Amino acid sequence: MKRWEVISNLLKELSKDNLIIGEVGVFEGKTTRFVFDENEKSIEEYDLIDPFKTYPDYDNINYDVRANQIKLNYAELKLEKYINNKRKIKLYKDFSEYAVKKFKDNYFDCVFIDANHEYKYIVNDIEMWLKKLKVGGLLIGHDFNYPDLPDVKKAVETHFGDHYFLEDDYIWWVKKGETLNE
Ligand SMILES: C[S@@+](CC[C@H](N)C(=O)[O-])C[C@H]1O[C@@H](n2cnc3c(N)ncnc32)[C@H](O)[C@@H]1O
Repeated sequence: MKRWEVISNLLKELSKDNLIIGEVGVFEGKTTRFVFDENEKSIEEYDLIDPFKTYPDYDNINYDVRANQIKLNYAELKLEKYINNKRKIKLYKDFSEYAVKKFKDNYFDCVFIDANHEYKYIVNDIEMWLKKLKVGGLLIGHDFNYPDLPDVKKAVETHFGDHYFLEDDYIWWVKKGETLNE
């Protein structure tokens, strides 16, 4: 199963209407597109966060082939074409640490973290976005145990111990209220 199918299934298991979803690190919106199209009726708001900018900690082409300004520009255009005035989707062109301040605590039913995969960024994303989740909401992330990206596993285990779940396509997730350290 691909990550977007895993996320879509987890959302269906929540069995809730008026879902408010956040995705941190969007690129061209492969996940956004599938999750939104599959669940549109149950979604109230889908907030996308991505600066579409290279920066010193995210500019090494060997680290992530997507971290190249030309590719990011193209991804942004492709995403905007898909969004095309969809009322429920909002794009925040900003870094995670700044965008997060625009949302109240306990706001989201689900946040998918898939931005910078370096340890300090993942730890920050977990801490910042967990606060923005409702109790019972899902914090989902990508690239757990992905080859050459050891930091995701390290950050998840540092924060949640062994209180997390793993799925296909390197997905990890927790449900707020059912894990430690939150
Ligand atoms: C792996 S891609 C996202 C893929 C997408 N979630 C999917 O499932 O297809 C990573 C994205 O994270 C974005 N990104 C990198 N650093 C970020 C940060 N500090 N805050 C928010 N987004 C960031 C990049 O611009 C890039 O588009």
